[in-house]
Amino acid sequence: MKISILGTGYVGAVTGACFAELGNDVVFVDIDPAKLDMIRTGRSPIFEPGLDELLAKNLHRISATTDTALAIRETEATFICVGTPSNPDGSIDLQYIAAASEAIGEVLREKESWHTVVMKSTVVSGTTTGIVRRRLEEASGKEAFRDFGLASNPEFLREGSALTDVFSPDRIVMGVEDPRSREVLETLYATFTCPKLVTAIPVAEMIKYVSNAFLATKISFANEIGNLCKTMGIDTAEVFAGVGLDARINPAFFRSGIGFGGSCFPKDVRALIAQAGAAGLPPKILQSVVAVNEEQPLRLVALLKKHLPDLKGKRIGVLGLAFKPDTDDIRESRAIPIIGELRKEGAGVIAYDPLAIAHFRSLFPEITYASSAAEVLECDAVLIITEWKEFEALDYTGKLVIDGRRVPKAAVGSIYEGVCW
Ligand code: UGA
Repeated sequence: MKISILGTGYVGAVTGACFAELGNDVVFVDIDPAKLDMIRTGRSPIFEPGLDELLAKNLHRISATTDTALAIRETEATFICVGTPSNPDGSIDLQYIAAASEAIGEVLREKESWHTVVMKSTVVSGTTTGIVRRRLEEASGKEAFRDFGLASNPEFLREGSALTDVFSPDRIVMGVEDPRSREVLETLYATFTCPKLVTAIPVAEMIKYVSNAFLATKISFANEIGNLCKTMGIDTAEVFAGVGLDARINPAFFRSGIGFGGSCFPKDVRALIAQAGAAGLPPKILQSVVAVNEEQPLRLVALLKKHLPDLKGKRIGVLGLAFKPDTDDIRESRAIPIIGELRKEGAGVIAYDPLAIAHFRSLFPEITYASSAAEVLECDAVLIITEWKEFEALDYTGKLVIDGRRVPKAAVGSIYEGVCW
């Protein structure tokens, strides 16, 4: 099949490369020519293990252009993968989605053959059949589901393991209203053997939000219980290993620590809260999920102050800046509030991360960045914020270590505190 991908950010780059690997011809569209140049030479515009190799391997099936009209004319389906930033009130900003829909609609006005528009970006339920449909119809002068197809196909990929998540998914969700769009998605995913759920479009959109909100809830729950376990001298991880053995509960996403970051959980939970609030149903559980997540990173600093009550002038080492290992992404990283608090307390910060220093420097140009993890261990105390594998190989003997992510080696021979253990 011939597919166009609007937006070559995280979701677009991964989705396009994976569809190419499945044998489809893929046209990437972006307003940024630099990203397109990278794709044309088989390099990913974002960091994701294995993605460069996948693009390079499938270059013969891949093209890249800034010309949206050309891409839509030459393909049968378009996946909208543009960004959905947050508004100050937590709701999502749909300006890029609206602009993309309008641009597609203008091309559909002249296009005679059938075209299916698929929403891949994460949007609150009602967006695709609401603003997207409206903009497409206004710009094209045509009717959705009759003159062109419209569908929702949310992604469930994690940064750092996105390719495995795409090729070995737990499920594929297809939100469709018309048989031709359904056929397009079923053809694209024909080789997958996982459960495939065909739903109405708003249901598909809701499945995505509720999945992320539930996983975020599991993490905040694990952290709240973890804080209690810590005061009782109980090992939280052992508790959740036992709890997770109940098949109704499942052990995943119960790792307690300093909370969830990234471009998805914090934003998606806030967007769902905003949507529920607008419906007159402010969600108490989700509000608490956010509240726990905001307090949790500061507990690391509170634990540090138990050992070093006055941080003024102290040199505090920070291991890890990315929101999780195997990514250079620092969006909503727990390192941000923690380093902010250390600075407020007057501490000098020396930080190291294998991939994320360049991004972090733009947020905190005034702190010192080490060129190796070992250098950080020279400080008065060390905080572990991201559980990079290489931090397992360090010698923490004699150091004061406050661990936010449970790196077992850090407890060996050190003065050690875990945030929830
Ligand atoms: C998340 C979801 O896991 C994906 O299924 C979803 O497709 C994606 O958002 C999205 O909406 O696009 P991602 O943000 O890449 O993926 O990262 P996760 O691996 O889910 O981790 C998110 C945060 O939760 C990280 O800061 C991680 O350290 C934290 N976490 C995760 C915990 O604190 N405890 C856990 O048990 C698991």
